[in-house]
Amino acid sequence: MRANAIRIHKNGPPSVLKWEEIDVANPKPDQVLVRHTAVGFNFADTYFRNGLYKVAGFPAVIGIEGAGVIEAVGKRVKGFKPGDRVAFSGGGAGTYAEASVRGADELIKLPGWLDDKTAAAALTKGCTVQYLFNEVHKIKRGETILFHAAAGGVGLIASQWAKAVGARLIGTASTPEKVRLAKRNGAAHVINSSKQDIAKEIKRLTNGQGVDLVYDSVGHDHWDASLASVRKYGLICLFGSASGKAPPMDFWEVGAKTASYFLRAKAANYLYDAETRRKSARHLFRMLKSGAVKIKIGQTYDLKDAAKAHRDAEGRKTTGSTILLP
Ligand SMILES: NC(=O)c1ccc[n+]([C@@H]2O[C@H](COP(=O)([O-])OP(=O)(O)OC[C@H]3O[C@@H](n4cnc5c(N)ncnc54)[C@H](OP(=O)(O)O)[C@@H]3O)[C@@H](O)[C@H]2O)c1
Repeated sequence: MRANAIRIHKNGPPSVLKWEEIDVANPKPDQVLVRHTAVGFNFADTYFRNGLYKVAGFPAVIGIEGAGVIEAVGKRVKGFKPGDRVAFSGGGAGTYAEASVRGADELIKLPGWLDDKTAAAALTKGCTVQYLFNEVHKIKRGETILFHAAAGGVGLIASQWAKAVGARLIGTASTPEKVRLAKRNGAAHVINSSKQDIAKEIKRLTNGQGVDLVYDSVGHDHWDASLASVRKYGLICLFGSASGKAPPMDFWEVGAKTASYFLRAKAANYLYDAETRRKSARHLFRMLKSGAVKIKIGQTYDLKDAAKAHRDAEGRKTTGSTILLP
């Protein structure tokens, strides 16, 4: 079948995102054809666009997350049928499209109470928080966490999740509006990173001790503050590079100064097959159903206007989750 999609023919700025007609193949025996109803924007989409992450080849339909309705199933697919509502995240590319063929192992069946837009806004970011707070480290009541970009898509979910567990999350955000938003969503404190010295504030808020855990998805710009904010024997988890890669580190020197643990967390190392992805999604769905975590869709764009979504995200203009509608 033919469908419209956002494709790139080379890496570059948002202007390389082109709205084009593509061929969508028939599903192979282990695949399904899905008509997309909502596509999740993730900051990682900008890395695939600009070349920080490599696409399989050009032209490429980018995008790692979406929700929709199954139109056809391959003959070896079990447990899914045409008409089922599903979401998918992280298993493959090509979600910036009106339809795509996906491996059945990527699919998460959507419960009746969860609408497609919320699912597309929640799955990648929510499962990220799930593995960061359970697999990277099992966060506990009373622990103190520094979490950068707390008003963003991942950040708002993390703020609520930490509060639900009883951990004290100290966020960073770059504007007063974002600071207020993160606080309303459960962050115990939020540091205005445009005005305040992050490490100094952390020392003040932790009686000079530093935090138990740092979750850093900003990378380059906040990395020094992250290193200076962790307590002795604490953990620094680097899981993104919104401002560019964290700079190379002299492990001998830095390790001696901080006596902390370092971990680079990538979803593919934690949510690597159908079972780990579905287990993570089930945990996320429990958090959503209980009301402990609510999804804020801060921005909605037409899929064909994906370039604007990328510009706004890279310009730090977005809050909460962003979805693209085919
Ligand atoms: N490793 C994983 O498994 C995994 C999975 C999902 C997401 N991630 C990472 O988690 C982060 C959050 O993802 P998201 O989709 O929810 O995005 P997001 O947090 O909604 O957007 C990124 C935020 O980063 C902050 N930021 C700081 N410096 C920036 C700069 N120079 N340019 C742009 N943004 C800057 C901005 O917040 P302020 O203006 O408030 O600083 C911005 O809103 C991303 O880095 C993403 O790559 C990692």
